[in-house]
Amino acid sequence: MQSWVPFVPESASTMSWKVDAVYFYLSGVTLFFTLLISAILIFFVIRYRRRTPYEIPRPIAGSHKLETLWTVIPFVIAMTIFGWSAKVYFEQYSPPQNAIEVYVVGKQWMWKIQHSTGQREINELHVPVGKKVKLIMTTEDVIHDFFVPAFRMKTDVVPGKYTTQWFEATKTGTYHLFCAEYCGMNHSGMIGSVVVMETREFDNWLSGNVSSSSPVAAGQQLYQTLGCVSCHGASGEGGRGPSLIGLFGKQTQLVGGQTVRADESYIRESILNPQSKLVDGFGPIMPTFQGQVSEDQLAQLLAYVKSLGGSQNQGAPTPASSPANKPAQPSPSPKAR
Ligand code: CUA
Repeated sequence: MQSWVPFVPESASTMSWKVDAVYFYLSGVTLFFTLLISAILIFFVIRYRRRTPYEIPRPIAGSHKLETLWTVIPFVIAMTIFGWSAKVYFEQYSPPQNAIEVYVVGKQWMWKIQHSTGQREINELHVPVGKKVKLIMTTEDVIHDFFVPAFRMKTDVVPGKYTTQWFEATKTGTYHLFCAEYCGMNHSGMIGSVVVMETREFDNWLSGNVSSSSPVAAGQQLYQTLGCVSCHGASGEGGRGPSLIGLFGKQTQLVGGQTVRADESYIRESILNPQSKLVDGFGPIMPTFQGQVSEDQLAQLLAYVKSLGGSQNQGAPTPASSPANKPAQPSPSPKAR
């Protein structure tokens, strides 16, 4: 379970080597300058040692050439580190569209996981090899952090919001899962494993595991029992409340003229604190569901709303927010001057 480089964990995801490359580059730069500076230091100590008692060194007025050199070289090196790591960072934190979605809820002191097909697990996550997997994560209590060293991925799991991360495992096997944020007495025991399986094996595992209803089906059930139907319509078509069909991922016009993208966090907030962002054209009539739904249930409601369709298109302008709807500005005519 160890890589050939000491202290470097095994590599088992498409991101691993990219993170490692930045890390090795940083280590290389550090090592190079440590050796260079030590060597020059030792050389100077010997070369410019005091040779006679009462020796006074020659005064030095400074050197613009030297100062420019030792400013520009570190600047260029720092910018290569910045540019390279920014590229890797954006890749790691922009989840792909076609990923398998898995819901993760942290809790003192365990990881609760639900697959989109309904299977639940605790402290274990089974995934197929070579497939992109996106984790949609939150917590019931304090901040935790989902950390899988072999995948070089680590993201905080924060109360009151969703965070996501994604990976594509490249090797079958069992890998350590840690909580990487101190979260109370049994923090060190909040561990588990990620089991990467061949696709067929994974399908077997899925069918061999008793599946509770899928998050979408459970969400639809909740949608009925919580009474969402009475305002948002029997299948989300809308009524006294805004329509939910095609909502996910869309820019939504709010009271007061602002727009917001209907992402996971917005939908979550609208369930728990409906008054905070009112959709344009609707009154503040929705009750809060704070304290009435668990994190698991929120994830299920979210899965249901997502299943009602919507564009994943980020930041696409909608007719409502396009300048075409605003009164036309009188165009300045050249004669006015
Ligand atoms: Cu959860 Cu530390």
